[in-house]
Amino acid sequence: MSELTTERSDMWSSSFIFVLAAAGSAVGLGNIWKFPYIAGENGGGAFVLVYLICIAVIGVPVMISEIMLGKLGRASPIQSLLNLCKTHNKPAGWSAIGYMGVVTGFVILSFYAVIAGWVCYYVLRLFSGEFTGASAESVGSAFSEFLASPLQVTLFFTLFMVITIFFVARGVTRGLELCVRYSMPAVFVLLIVLIGYGVHTGGMAESAKFLFTPDFSSLNAQAVVIALGHAFFTLSLGMGAIMAYGAYVPQNVSVVQTTFTIAFLDTLLALMAGLAIFAIVFAEGLPPDSSVGLLFQTVPIAFGSLPGGAFFGGLFFLLVALAALTSAISISEPVVAYVSERIKATRAKIAIGVGVVCWLLGMGSVLSFNVWSDVKLFFDWTFFDVFDKVSQLVLLPLGGLLIALFVAWVLPSTIVNEELGLVTKQRQQAWRVIVGVVTPLAVLVVFVVELAREIFGF
Ligand code: PFF
Repeated sequence: MSELTTERSDMWSSSFIFVLAAAGSAVGLGNIWKFPYIAGENGGGAFVLVYLICIAVIGVPVMISEIMLGKLGRASPIQSLLNLCKTHNKPAGWSAIGYMGVVTGFVILSFYAVIAGWVCYYVLRLFSGEFTGASAESVGSAFSEFLASPLQVTLFFTLFMVITIFFVARGVTRGLELCVRYSMPAVFVLLIVLIGYGVHTGGMAESAKFLFTPDFSSLNAQAVVIALGHAFFTLSLGMGAIMAYGAYVPQNVSVVQTTFTIAFLDTLLALMAGLAIFAIVFAEGLPPDSSVGLLFQTVPIAFGSLPGGAFFGGLFFLLVALAALTSAISISEPVVAYVSERIKATRAKIAIGVGVVCWLLGMGSVLSFNVWSDVKLFFDWTFFDVFDKVSQLVLLPLGGLLIALFVAWVLPSTIVNEELGLVTKQRQQAWRVIVGVVTPLAVLVVFVVELAREIFGF
């Protein structure tokens, strides 16, 4: 702790712990639940390739920018941006990025906790041994029956929300470190077990072919927007979550190195989950485009036919729930940190307030899968679809775009160069071109093409 000389007392105790916490934010349902099903819905290989390009070209520069902004501002994202604007005499309007992040945080946490609730329910169901030797049909119908019961879904959603708020109330650094340090390597090991299962059942070759052989005929503009949005979602970018964590970073942490580590870990886990899940899909002859149910309709089949499967299957879902918890905590951080700065209330009270709002919003997503499944708000989107799509396809990319522009064109370049250790002119220019031109242009082009597609219908 001796190197911590800034004004905050609640710092990550070392750079390693910061990497763990940021990786804990990044690795979550986005990797294990969402990536496989959107890859399946969008035809596999070509989508995965675009996603990887988005991570490298857009995700990495935006993550570097967010961590740096947090480190420079040392406050909630809104306050950090305000501080920086004030210090450097720039329009305070840029803090709108922070306000947008607060709204996005409420939206994402509300539906994220619903899906995490499904995971919690599966922890119990797998431990009960009920799926031992179960067929694909019975696993599939168990999932549909569960979703059809608003009461059960609400119960587990509420459970997850309460646990999240409990941790948020206690403050960021405590508990989180412990959780990530042990649960992430354990998820990794169990994914290897599942991959081994896939090799054994013979589905792995087809799974690898599906995910890694690009077939561009199955790629359309919409898939590109989804890949872009997911790059933001999976790396926790565009809403200030990583920026909020960056505010607690010890001074000596290398922003660039940390970013590469997190992006690598996050991508590795998503690809492993994808490989494992599609191996089950192909071995069982299931449809790859099974949407939100994919994780829940495949993984129990694999554990159901493995020795000790009830225990390891339960453990797998428990670890996924923990991964979701460390992400959910980070989603709430920009909001909670900002409100804590603004009003004189304990962190616990603020956390409960945030939890109640998210719970109310989340009920819309709970009901989207049963009572309100026919209620379509616009296009043919349910309440859940609206929250999911608007956050991922619009709010996060827009936030990321603005963050990149702010860092490249608003903050004085001397500060950025110093913070990132860019000593040579070439490096400084290369960084500026990437974050100031390539990243924003890439986001803009994807937006414009998608908009044109909606309007002209190609
Ligand atoms: N990155 C998390 C996941 O992949 O599950 C989700 C997430 C966390 C999104 C934090 C946004 C965020 F700010």
